[in-house]
Amino acid sequence: MEPNADRDSKHALIIGASRGLGLGLAREYLRRGWHVVASVRNNAGREALQSLPAAVEGKLSVPTLDVNCREDIDSLRRDLKEQPLDLLLINAGVAGDPTVPAEEVSAYDFAEVMLTNALAPVRLTAAFNSHVKSGGVIAATSSNMGSVSSNSGDGWEVYRASKAALNQLMKSFAARHEGDCRTYLLVSPGWVRTDMGGSNAPLDVETSAAGIADTNRDLSGGWRRSFCRLSLPSDPVVGLPARRAPRVGGSCP
Ligand SMILES: NC(=O)c1ccc[n+]([C@@H]2O[C@H](COP(=O)([O-])OP(=O)(O)OC[C@H]3O[C@@H](n4cnc5c(N)ncnc54)[C@H](OP(=O)(O)O)[C@@H]3O)[C@@H](O)[C@H]2O)c1
Repeated sequence: MEPNADRDSKHALIIGASRGLGLGLAREYLRRGWHVVASVRNNAGREALQSLPAAVEGKLSVPTLDVNCREDIDSLRRDLKEQPLDLLLINAGVAGDPTVPAEEVSAYDFAEVMLTNALAPVRLTAAFNSHVKSGGVIAATSSNMGSVSSNSGDGWEVYRASKAALNQLMKSFAARHEGDCRTYLLVSPGWVRTDMGGSNAPLDVETSAAGIADTNRDLSGGWRRSFCRLSLPSDPVVGLPARRAPRVGGSCP
């Protein structure tokens, strides 16, 4: 990948883009004219992305990256060279089996959900945050299910714990980088019709992806930490306006 290939266009790195929200986000940013690096974890995940017209126009590249594989992360870092990013969006996630109570889950399954949803995003943030420009955004896809106070006790126990851990770890990372002129966001996308969200979810991928892209745009431009729930009228689960943290640390270069 050529560093600074097109100075007029914005650049996003979207992690976990083979299907669902990640694919929708890649499509949305391409629609907005961005250059997009959209990672997938294996060759089977490339098909939908590579059929997008932007792939032909050279605005899309699709590297392979399993978020739990350090070698993959190092390899993508090397491939990106000095490419500045306007957005790092860490979307990959797994649900595990939402019906299994925490005390019954195997250590392997517990570790997979926690490593993928909580540890990997902070590792990826550490690996790529120096690529993110001053004023750029680092966003991880969280969930309302990460909220301890609104836990209604209806399953998804390990998944809920993983998103709560994600929120804590990303907040700690952002605190250690206070004043670095990047925006750190945890974005709850609403309940979305994907393989994970299921067919009863009220939101389609396009609406959620556009909402996330608008939120990322609106909150860019300086050091912030924020948890954002998308405020979409069609989503009965998520009714709160996106919370906007004040910019901290003054103006950024
Ligand atoms: N859908 C909802 O209602 C909802 C609500 C709140 C939060 N979220 C969050 O939104 C994000 C996307 O969810 P979704 O609904 O689009 O789920 P999805 O349809 O199940 O897609 C999950 C994506 O994550 C990728 N992924 C999983 N493990 C990975 C790994 N180890 N390395 C690299 N990629 C990996 C998958 O790749 P493969 O194709 O290779 O498996 C796939 O692209 C997740 O973080 C999820 O927790 C979703």
